[in-house]
Amino acid sequence: MDAGIDVAGVKRSFGAVHAVREVTFTAAPGRVTGLVGPNGSGKTTLMLMLASLLQADAGRMSLGGVDPVADPAGVRRLLGWMPDSLGAWPSLTAREVLVATAQLYDLSRDAARARADELLALVDLSALAASPARVLSRGQKQRLALARALVHDPRVLLLDEPASGLDPQARIALRVLLRRLAAEGRTILISSHVLSELEEVVDDAVFLVDGRTVGGDRVAAATRRVRAWRVRVPADVARPMDAVRLDVAAALGRAGDEVGVDRRDVLVPFTDEAGAVAGLRALIGAGLPVVEFAPAVGDLEHAFLDLGAEPAGPASPEAVAPPASSPKPPRPTSPPEPAPPSSDVPPGQTPPANRPDDGSVA
Ligand SMILES: Nc1ncnc2c1ncn2[C@@H]1O[C@H](COP(=O)(O)OP(=O)(O)OP(=O)(O)O)[C@@H](O)[C@H]1O
Ligand SMILES: [Mg+2]
Repeated sequence: MDAGIDVAGVKRSFGAVHAVREVTFTAAPGRVTGLVGPNGSGKTTLMLMLASLLQADAGRMSLGGVDPVADPAGVRRLLGWMPDSLGAWPSLTAREVLVATAQLYDLSRDAARARADELLALVDLSALAASPARVLSRGQKQRLALARALVHDPRVLLLDEPASGLDPQARIALRVLLRRLAAEGRTILISSHVLSELEEVVDDAVFLVDGRTVGGDRVAAATRRVRAWRVRVPADVARPMDAVRLDVAAALGRAGDEVGVDRRDVLVPFTDEAGAVAGLRALIGAGLPVVEFAPAVGDLEHAFLDLGAEPAGPASPEAVAPPASSPKPPRPTSPPEPAPPSSDVPPGQTPPANRPDDGSVA
C-alpha cells in the first residue's frame, strides 16, 4: 500500500523484555485505525518505531510509501506524531511551542504564526496562547500536543492515547476532528486501552496482545461469541429487581439462573443479533415495559475481553474492521483457528482484559 501504513514482522526487545514480538498489519488511508491492547502490550514501542524514533530489531515498515529506517527525515515530513505526553519546552508559551515546531518544519516565521493561531483555535486553546506550556492542565497539554502533531498538515497521523485526560466535550471535539482528518484522506493510527473511547471513532482495529498482533479470524471469532445484553425494565417496590429478573427469564423461556442482574439492569446472554431481536420481541409481547435494550459492552471491548482470555496467535497481515462501526464484516486474514468456548456470559463473569504474563515479560 502506498499511502497508508504497512507493517510486517516487526520486533523489538529491551534486553530480556520482548516489548514487540511480532507485529503485522496495514492501516488504510482515509480510515481511522485503532491500536488496541492492554498496558504493556507494546503499543507505544510500536508507534515509536513507526515514527522513526526507535530502531526495530526485525521487520519491515512503510508509511505513505516511505521506510522510516531508510528515510527517517522523509517519514517525519509526512508524519504527525502525538506522543503519550507533551514533553519538551515547558517554558515556551502554547503559541511559541507551535510556532517553533512549524519553523522546524521549514515554515516561514509569518506562516508559522498564522498556522499556530489556526491550530490554537482548532483545539480550543486560543485563550491560553500566551500561557507557558508547563502551567497547562493535563487535558490542555494533550490538546497542545495534538495541535503540534498537525502543524505541517501531515498525511499520516500516529496518536498515542490522544484522548487521555480530555474532558467529555474535548473528547467529542477530538472525535469529530479525527473523522474530518480521515475524510480528507489521511491515514490515522490511534492507540488506546479505553475501548469505549475508540469504539465511536475507529473504522478498523488492530489488536495487540503481549506484543503480537492478533489474527483477523480470532478477532472475528471473538466478536461472534455469546454476549450479554442489558435489558432495563423499571423496578419498583411492588416488583423489585429480582422479580423483574424472573419476569424477563419467563418471557424469554429461560431458566432463572441464565439471567443476571447488574444494578438496575437485567443481563441476558444472546448468541447473535437475530437472537437478541427475537428476545426483544418476546419481552414486548409479554407486556414488559422495556425502556432500554443494548449490548452490555461495546463491540471492541467484547472482542478484546474475549481475546484477553486466549493465548496469543499468529500475526494478522491486515487490520480487521470492528463489527460496530463498519458495515463490512471483519476481513479474515489468517488461517482459521478453532473457537474456544464462550467466556463472557454474563458480563459479571467476564475474564480480565490483561492476560497473565508468560514469564518472559517484566
Ligand atoms: N525503554 C525500555 N526499556 C525496557 N523495557 C521497556 C522499554 N520501553 C518499553 N518497555 C517494556 O515493553 C513493554 C511494552 O511497553 P509499551 O510502553 O510499548 O506498552 P503500551 O502498550 O504502550 O502500554 P500502555 O497502555 O501502558 O501505554 C512493557 O513491558 C514495558 O515495560
Ligand atoms: Mg503506551
